[in-house]
Amino acid sequence: MPTSLVSGGSRGLGLAVVERLLERGDRVATFSRSGSESLARLVSRHSGRLFVETLDAADPAALRGFVDHVAAAFGSIDHCVANAAIAREGVLATSADADIDAMLAVNLRGSIVLVREVVRQMLVQAEHPSITLVSSVVAAQGSPGLAVYAATKAGLEGFARSLARELGPRGIRVNAVAPGFLETELSASLSEEHRVRIVRRTPLGRLGMPADVVGAIDFLSSPRAGFITGQVLTIAGGV
Ligand SMILES: NC(=O)c1ccc[n+]([C@@H]2O[C@H](COP(=O)([O-])OP(=O)(O)OC[C@H]3O[C@@H](n4cnc5c(N)ncnc54)[C@H](OP(=O)(O)O)[C@@H]3O)[C@@H](O)[C@H]2O)c1
Repeated sequence: MPTSLVSGGSRGLGLAVVERLLERGDRVATFSRSGSESLARLVSRHSGRLFVETLDAADPAALRGFVDHVAAAFGSIDHCVANAAIAREGVLATSADADIDAMLAVNLRGSIVLVREVVRQMLVQAEHPSITLVSSVVAAQGSPGLAVYAATKAGLEGFARSLARELGPRGIRVNAVAPGFLETELSASLSEEHRVRIVRRTPLGRLGMPADVVGAIDFLSSPRAGFITGQVLTIAGGV
Protein backbone atom coordinates (compact mmCIF):
# COMPACT_ATOMS: atom_id res chain seq x y z
CA MET A 1 0.00 0.00 0.00
CA PRO A 2 1.69 3.28 -1.09
CA THR A 3 1.98 6.22 1.28
CA SER A 4 1.20 9.71 -0.01
CA LEU A 5 1.95 12.95 1.81
CA VAL A 6 -0.21 15.94 0.83
CA SER A 7 0.40 19.39 2.32
CA GLY A 8 -2.61 21.61 3.02
CA GLY A 9 -5.25 18.87 3.08
CA SER A 10 -7.87 20.57 5.25
CA ARG A 11 -9.87 22.15 2.41
CA GLY A 12 -9.93 23.11 -1.27
CA LEU A 13 -7.71 21.22 -3.69
CA GLY A 14 -5.63 19.55 -0.95
CA LEU A 15 -8.72 18.01 0.68
CA ALA A 16 -9.92 16.73 -2.72
CA VAL A 17 -6.50 15.16 -3.36
CA VAL A 18 -6.49 13.51 0.08
CA GLU A 19 -9.95 12.03 -0.65
CA ARG A 20 -8.91 10.71 -4.07
CA LEU A 21 -5.69 9.13 -2.80
CA LEU A 22 -7.58 7.45 0.06
CA GLU A 23 -10.15 6.17 -2.46
CA ARG A 24 -7.43 4.60 -4.58
CA GLY A 25 -6.13 2.78 -1.50
CA ASP A 26 -3.12 4.83 -0.38
CA ARG A 27 -2.17 5.60 3.19
CA VAL A 28 -2.28 9.40 3.34
CA ALA A 29 -0.63 11.97 5.62
CA THR A 30 -1.53 15.64 5.59
CA PHE A 31 -1.15 18.83 7.60
CA SER A 32 -2.47 22.37 7.77
CA ARG A 33 -2.46 25.13 10.40
CA SER A 34 -5.97 24.24 11.50
CA GLY A 35 -8.22 21.26 10.94
CA SER A 36 -11.63 21.13 9.28
CA GLU A 37 -14.86 19.18 9.74
CA SER A 38 -14.43 17.56 6.33
CA LEU A 39 -10.97 16.30 7.22
CA ALA A 40 -12.16 15.07 10.64
CA ARG A 41 -14.91 13.08 8.86
CA LEU A 42 -12.29 11.48 6.60
CA VAL A 43 -10.15 10.58 9.63
CA SER A 44 -13.05 8.71 11.24
CA ARG A 45 -13.96 6.99 7.94
CA HIS A 46 -10.37 5.91 7.18
CA SER A 47 -9.00 5.33 10.66
CA GLY A 48 -5.42 4.02 10.58
CA ARG A 49 -4.96 5.08 6.94
CA LEU A 50 -5.08 8.88 7.35
CA PHE A 51 -2.47 10.66 9.47
CA VAL A 52 -3.14 14.32 10.29
CA GLU A 53 -1.17 16.98 12.17
CA THR A 54 -1.54 20.73 12.55
CA LEU A 55 1.55 22.79 11.78
CA ASP A 56 2.71 25.88 9.95
CA ALA A 57 4.55 25.25 6.67
CA ALA A 58 6.55 28.41 7.32
CA ASP A 59 8.36 26.51 10.12
CA PRO A 60 11.11 24.25 8.69
CA ALA A 61 11.58 22.37 11.99
CA ALA A 62 7.87 21.55 12.11
CA LEU A 63 8.02 20.23 8.52
CA ARG A 64 11.02 18.07 9.42
CA GLY A 65 9.17 16.70 12.46
CA PHE A 66 6.06 15.94 10.40
CA VAL A 67 7.98 13.97 7.77
CA ASP A 68 9.73 12.00 10.53
CA HIS A 69 6.37 11.23 12.18
CA VAL A 70 4.86 10.05 8.87
CA ALA A 71 7.85 7.81 8.13
CA ALA A 72 7.63 6.37 11.65
CA ALA A 73 3.86 5.77 11.35
CA PHE A 74 3.73 4.38 7.80
CA GLY A 75 7.28 3.11 7.16
CA SER A 76 7.95 4.89 3.87
CA ILE A 77 6.78 7.86 1.80
CA ASP A 78 6.16 7.09 -1.87
CA HIS A 79 4.37 10.19 -3.16
CA CYS A 80 4.46 13.83 -2.10
CA VAL A 81 2.01 16.51 -3.24
CA ALA A 82 3.26 19.98 -2.19
CA ASN A 83 -0.04 21.86 -2.25
CA ALA A 84 -0.20 24.24 0.75
CA ALA A 85 0.05 27.87 -0.27
CA ILE A 86 -1.26 31.33 0.50
CA ALA A 87 -2.07 34.23 -1.80
CA ARG A 88 -2.02 37.84 -0.62
CA GLU A 89 -3.38 40.03 -3.38
CA GLY A 90 -2.28 43.64 -3.94
CA VAL A 91 -0.16 45.80 -6.20
CA LEU A 92 3.57 45.50 -5.59
CA ALA A 93 4.16 49.20 -4.97
CA THR A 94 2.12 49.14 -1.75
CA SER A 95 2.88 45.57 -0.66
CA ALA A 96 4.09 44.98 2.89
CA ASP A 97 7.33 43.14 3.73
CA ALA A 98 5.30 40.80 5.94
CA ASP A 99 3.09 39.70 3.03
CA ILE A 100 6.08 39.11 0.74
CA ASP A 101 7.86 37.14 3.48
CA ALA A 102 4.76 35.06 4.24
CA MET A 103 4.26 33.98 0.62
CA LEU A 104 7.94 33.17 0.17
CA ALA A 105 8.05 31.25 3.48
CA VAL A 106 4.95 29.12 2.88
CA ASN A 107 4.72 28.68 -0.90
CA LEU A 108 8.38 28.50 -1.84
CA ARG A 109 10.59 27.69 1.16
CA GLY A 110 7.87 25.56 2.78
CA SER A 111 7.49 23.42 -0.35
CA ILE A 112 11.25 23.16 -0.89
CA VAL A 113 11.96 22.14 2.72
CA LEU A 114 9.06 19.66 2.72
CA VAL A 115 10.31 18.06 -0.50
CA ARG A 116 13.89 17.95 0.80
CA GLU A 117 12.78 16.06 3.91
CA VAL A 118 10.60 13.70 1.86
CA VAL A 119 13.40 13.04 -0.65
CA ARG A 120 15.70 12.03 2.23
CA GLN A 121 13.14 9.36 3.11
CA MET A 122 12.55 8.35 -0.52
CA LEU A 123 16.27 7.80 -1.09
CA VAL A 124 16.18 5.19 1.68
CA GLN A 125 12.97 3.41 0.67
CA ALA A 126 10.06 4.15 -1.69
CA GLU A 127 7.98 2.41 -4.39
CA HIS A 128 7.72 4.30 -7.73
CA PRO A 129 8.44 7.57 -5.89
CA SER A 130 7.03 10.85 -7.16
CA ILE A 131 6.81 14.48 -6.17
CA THR A 132 4.09 16.74 -7.53
CA LEU A 133 4.23 20.47 -6.88
CA VAL A 134 1.13 22.61 -7.14
CA SER A 135 1.92 25.73 -9.16
CA SER A 136 -0.54 28.07 -10.91
CA VAL A 137 -1.11 29.40 -14.43
CA VAL A 138 -0.12 32.82 -13.14
CA ALA A 139 3.50 31.58 -12.94
CA ALA A 140 3.70 31.51 -16.73
CA GLN A 141 1.02 34.03 -17.66
CA GLY A 142 1.19 36.66 -14.93
CA SER A 143 -1.70 38.42 -13.24
CA PRO A 144 -1.87 42.00 -11.88
CA GLY A 145 -1.94 42.04 -8.09
CA LEU A 146 -0.40 38.57 -7.86
CA ALA A 147 3.23 39.29 -8.80
CA VAL A 148 4.78 37.93 -5.59
CA TYR A 149 2.49 34.88 -5.54
CA ALA A 150 3.38 34.30 -9.22
CA ALA A 151 7.10 34.57 -8.35
CA THR A 152 6.73 31.82 -5.72
CA LYS A 153 4.94 29.57 -8.22
CA ALA A 154 7.45 30.26 -11.01
CA GLY A 155 10.15 29.38 -8.47
CA LEU A 156 8.46 26.03 -7.82
CA GLU A 157 8.37 25.25 -11.54
CA GLY A 158 12.12 25.91 -11.85
CA PHE A 159 12.65 23.81 -8.74
CA ALA A 160 10.65 20.94 -10.29
CA ARG A 161 12.62 20.98 -13.54
CA SER A 162 16.03 21.01 -11.84
CA LEU A 163 15.08 18.45 -9.21
CA ALA A 164 13.73 16.14 -11.90
CA ARG A 165 17.20 16.12 -13.48
CA GLU A 166 18.90 15.67 -10.09
CA LEU A 167 16.66 12.81 -8.94
CA GLY A 168 15.90 11.07 -12.24
CA PRO A 169 18.92 8.79 -11.89
CA ARG A 170 17.56 7.74 -8.46
CA GLY A 171 14.16 6.89 -9.96
CA ILE A 172 12.31 9.77 -8.29
CA ARG A 173 10.02 11.72 -10.63
CA VAL A 174 9.23 15.41 -10.09
CA ASN A 175 6.42 17.26 -11.88
CA ALA A 176 4.15 20.24 -11.34
CA VAL A 177 0.53 21.02 -12.11
CA ALA A 178 -0.49 24.59 -12.93
CA PRO A 179 -4.22 25.07 -12.38
CA GLY A 180 -6.17 28.09 -13.56
CA PHE A 181 -8.42 29.91 -11.09
CA LEU A 182 -10.35 27.38 -9.00
CA GLU A 183 -13.54 27.76 -6.98
CA THR A 184 -11.92 27.53 -3.50
CA GLU A 185 -11.38 29.79 -0.48
CA LEU A 186 -8.07 30.95 -1.96
CA SER A 187 -9.86 32.63 -4.87
CA ALA A 188 -12.92 33.75 -2.88
CA SER A 189 -11.67 37.35 -2.86
CA LEU A 190 -11.86 37.59 -6.68
CA SER A 191 -14.18 40.43 -7.69
CA GLU A 192 -17.21 39.55 -9.82
CA GLU A 193 -15.72 41.62 -12.64
CA HIS A 194 -12.42 39.70 -12.49
CA ARG A 195 -14.29 36.38 -12.36
CA VAL A 196 -16.34 37.28 -15.48
CA ARG A 197 -13.15 38.35 -17.30
CA ILE A 198 -11.43 35.01 -16.52
CA VAL A 199 -14.45 32.99 -17.65
CA ARG A 200 -14.73 35.02 -20.88
CA ARG A 201 -11.13 34.29 -21.89
CA THR A 202 -11.28 30.58 -20.93
CA PRO A 203 -12.10 28.38 -23.96
CA LEU A 204 -14.01 25.90 -21.78
CA GLY A 205 -16.04 28.83 -20.38
CA ARG A 206 -15.90 28.38 -16.60
CA LEU A 207 -13.61 28.48 -13.57
CA GLY A 208 -12.02 25.19 -12.53
CA MET A 209 -13.07 23.02 -9.62
CA PRO A 210 -10.69 20.99 -7.40
CA ALA A 211 -12.11 17.87 -9.09
CA ASP A 212 -10.70 19.12 -12.42
CA VAL A 213 -7.15 18.96 -11.03
CA VAL A 214 -7.33 15.89 -8.82
CA GLY A 215 -7.25 13.38 -11.70
CA ALA A 216 -3.98 14.82 -13.02
CA ILE A 217 -2.37 14.67 -9.55
CA ASP A 218 -3.64 11.10 -9.08
CA PHE A 219 -2.09 10.16 -12.46
CA LEU A 220 1.25 11.95 -11.95
CA SER A 221 1.67 10.37 -8.52
CA SER A 222 1.23 6.84 -9.83
CA PRO A 223 3.27 4.32 -11.80
CA ARG A 224 1.04 5.11 -14.84
CA ALA A 225 3.13 8.27 -15.21
CA GLY A 226 6.35 6.29 -14.77
CA PHE A 227 8.18 7.93 -17.72
CA ILE A 228 7.03 11.52 -17.06
CA THR A 229 9.29 13.85 -15.12
CA GLY A 230 10.31 17.52 -15.16
CA GLN A 231 6.97 18.57 -16.66
CA VAL A 232 4.48 21.30 -15.81
CA LEU A 233 0.91 20.37 -16.71
CA THR A 234 -1.44 23.33 -17.18
CA ILE A 235 -5.02 22.58 -16.14
CA ALA A 236 -6.94 25.74 -16.95
CA GLY A 237 -9.74 25.03 -19.41
CA GLY A 238 -7.62 25.78 -22.46
CA VAL A 239 -5.90 29.00 -21.37
N1 LIG B 1 -7.70 28.51 -5.88
C1 LIG B 1 -7.14 28.86 -7.02
O1 LIG B 1 -7.69 29.65 -7.80
C2 LIG B 1 -5.81 28.28 -7.41
C3 LIG B 1 -5.36 28.45 -8.72
C4 LIG B 1 -4.14 27.93 -9.09
C5 LIG B 1 -3.36 27.27 -8.17
N2 LIG B 1 -3.80 27.12 -6.90
C6 LIG B 1 -2.95 26.43 -5.95
O2 LIG B 1 -3.61 25.27 -5.51
C7 LIG B 1 -3.17 24.95 -4.17
C8 LIG B 1 -4.37 24.78 -3.28
O3 LIG B 1 -5.11 25.99 -3.29
P1 LIG B 1 -6.60 26.07 -2.74
O4 LIG B 1 -7.33 26.96 -3.65
O5 LIG B 1 -7.11 24.72 -2.42
O6 LIG B 1 -6.30 26.87 -1.38
P2 LIG B 1 -7.11 26.91 0.00
O7 LIG B 1 -8.53 26.53 -0.19
O8 LIG B 1 -6.79 28.24 0.60
O9 LIG B 1 -6.37 25.75 0.85
C9 LIG B 1 -5.01 25.89 1.18
C10 LIG B 1 -4.61 24.75 2.09
O10 LIG B 1 -3.25 24.97 2.51
C11 LIG B 1 -3.21 25.09 3.95
N3 LIG B 1 -2.22 26.09 4.33
C12 LIG B 1 -2.16 27.39 3.95
N4 LIG B 1 -1.13 27.99 4.56
C13 LIG B 1 -0.53 27.07 5.34
C14 LIG B 1 0.58 27.10 6.22
N5 LIG B 1 1.27 28.20 6.46
N6 LIG B 1 0.93 25.95 6.85
C15 LIG B 1 0.22 24.81 6.66
N7 LIG B 1 -0.83 24.71 5.83
C16 LIG B 1 -1.20 25.83 5.19
C17 LIG B 1 -4.63 25.54 4.33
O11 LIG B 1 -4.96 25.21 5.68
P3 LIG B 1 -4.76 26.27 6.88
O12 LIG B 1 -5.21 27.60 6.39
O13 LIG B 1 -5.57 25.71 8.02
O14 LIG B 1 -3.31 26.26 7.21
C18 LIG B 1 -5.44 24.68 3.37
O15 LIG B 1 -5.51 23.35 3.83
C19 LIG B 1 -2.23 26.09 -3.77
O16 LIG B 1 -0.91 25.72 -4.01
C20 LIG B 1 -2.63 27.22 -4.70
O17 LIG B 1 -1.59 28.14 -4.89
C21 LIG B 1 -5.02 27.60 -6.49
